[in-house]
Amino acid sequence: LTYSFYGSGPQAGVRTPPQQYCVFMTFDLQIETARELQVLLATWSGAIDRLMSGKAIGSVEPSRSSAVPTDTGEAQELGPNGLTVTLGLGPGVFDKRFDLAAMKPALLADLPSLPSDQLRAELTGGDISLQACADHPQVAYHAIRDLARMARESVHTRWTVMGFGKASAGAGQKTPRNLLGFKDGTRNITEKSDYDDFVWLGKDAGWMAGGTYQIARKIQMNIEIWDADHIGDQQDVFGRTKHVGAPLTGKHEFDTPDFAKKKADGDPVIPATSHIALAAHENNDGIKILRRPYNYTDGISRFGQLDAGLLFMVYTNDPDNFSRLQRKLGASDRLNEYIGHIGSAVFAVPPAVKSGHYLAEELFG
Ligand code: HEM
Repeated sequence: LTYSFYGSGPQAGVRTPPQQYCVFMTFDLQIETARELQVLLATWSGAIDRLMSGKAIGSVEPSRSSAVPTDTGEAQELGPNGLTVTLGLGPGVFDKRFDLAAMKPALLADLPSLPSDQLRAELTGGDISLQACADHPQVAYHAIRDLARMARESVHTRWTVMGFGKASAGAGQKTPRNLLGFKDGTRNITEKSDYDDFVWLGKDAGWMAGGTYQIARKIQMNIEIWDADHIGDQQDVFGRTKHVGAPLTGKHEFDTPDFAKKKADGDPVIPATSHIALAAHENNDGIKILRRPYNYTDGISRFGQLDAGLLFMVYTNDPDNFSRLQRKLGASDRLNEYIGHIGSAVFAVPPAVKSGHYLAEELFG
């Protein structure tokens, strides 16, 4: 499976049906001039095109024995494996350094502090993000490794998450599960009209038209505590059944939840503090966000517990829609007993470019 880097719509990796694996990394720019930023974006664009086509970005085995290989080589023979690399620009790109303030995407700003934030400085922010998704873990890793390596004079790595399993579904895919064992991605954005209303930026966004905003949250799960909870409570936390993934008011996964349905004692069947009751568009003035998360693990914590969670990737044409939902979830979601948001960053994702051009070229007039 090969996706094209060049094209006229959005960058690949947003609407693309989620591939199995993801490596997400953010970077701090170490350069000082707009010219150097331009060179970086042009160089990365050309390299991303090669990587997505399954090609090496340079020589794996140079003919001169004294030469250092320009491609590290571990993705040879693996092919493209559905690789997409999606690039985002953080607020720092538009600060004083590069004199680009006038070009700043209108809604690009650090997120406000949100309830239940347990952010760690070393897992927040970044001037640029790269999200590599592929159906082979080493293809995704190689892409990020070699893009970081070729730009090491211009960027420093900031934080990274390796997603070992997708936790959302695209067109034609079965809904996968998150590490709490529940199907994730059942009610997500799929219709073109919803993409237009809630994901893509419109013509009024100028050079960003057709782009979107990316919000990355590293959400740690208290897995052992969750695993000790009884099934009735786990299902009340989400408002869905575990095996089938049906709303508590239905039988099948894709039944529409009925948030008004009451039990004999007058309480709603889907508890008001359940994750879906709080997050559903019916209860949030119609707001929807595109969720494209991945399960991650960092092994074992220093307390001897499983260190794992969800790399929660959101695409939205208004980051405030995420903040509004998170404010509500952060205040009352029963899921909060089992999770903590430890990483966070926001980026503007420029639209794709046609062959012969590079990402965000418009910035440089
Ligand atoms: C739905 C899991 C964090 C927004 C769901 C569902 C699950 C789930 C299992 C039900 C299936 C589905 O419709 O996809 C999780 C886990 C999280 C997490 C494990 C953290 C570790 C968040 C956050 C937000 C969010 C931070 C937004 C700020 C939503 C929305 C829905 C949803 C909008 C769809 C609700 C509906 O329309 O029924 N999530 N979620 N989730 N989640 Fe989360």
